[in-house]
Amino acid sequence: MSAEILVREFTVLTIFPQMFPGPLGFGVVGRAFADERLVLDVRDLRAWADPPHRQVDDETFGGGAGMVLKPEPLFRAVEAIRAETPPRSLHVVLLDPGGRRFDQAAARELAGYERLVLICGRYEGVDERVRRRLVDEELSIGDYVLCGGELAAMVVVEATARLAPGVVGRAESVAEESFEASLLDHPHYTRPAEFAGLEVPEVLRSGHHEQIESWRRQAALDRTRRQRPDLLARAVTEDDARKGENR
Ligand code: ADE
Repeated sequence: MSAEILVREFTVLTIFPQMFPGPLGFGVVGRAFADERLVLDVRDLRAWADPPHRQVDDETFGGGAGMVLKPEPLFRAVEAIRAETPPRSLHVVLLDPGGRRFDQAAARELAGYERLVLICGRYEGVDERVRRRLVDEELSIGDYVLCGGELAAMVVVEATARLAPGVVGRAESVAEESFEASLLDHPHYTRPAEFAGLEVPEVLRSGHHEQIESWRRQAALDRTRRQRPDLLARAVTEDDARKGENR
């Protein structure tokens, strides 16, 4: 079904290393980093900038508002990291609002590399030579503009890290959740059996596993149809494509 999960190390290049680990220090992902099952390696881009001022940005050629991240510190940083890492296990990502939309399928793809290098853009962006020569791909976490790539990198790290074996408790729970089958997750209930005038559906309390499975499948479809019909269209297309392959 899905490709092998190899991810072990996330290297983040940023001019604001103090922003990390931030939210990545909490929960199951925080524990995986604390136990060194995964590595979060945050590097200050200024370390590769020229002394004495260690300037990482400069004015844009042709004029205009805003500064651009200079190419040299980024090239030096990535070259140093590449030299430490076997080539096929490394993937270099630039976080940028113009990149390919990051989603669960992209998280699965990224999890297939042992080491990810995440470059956090700032200001008006990065020098174009960085895109052309240094990065393997550009990713965006949505159609809005953040002040920099750091929050986006955190989103990408968390969504990818939690796919690594043993990070999320039960092996099934990642496979069952929203987006994994191009469907949203089914509703979940816990005690009490009645709350706010709403009862937990009888079938979920019946102990009848087949009926529970069938209820959950239907509820996931209904919820997806209501909230994300675009996903459903994709699920049907993927299903048709699979049938086509088997013919
Ligand atoms: N940097 C600024 N905005 C961003 C976005 N939406 N996604 C990724 N990186 C960004």
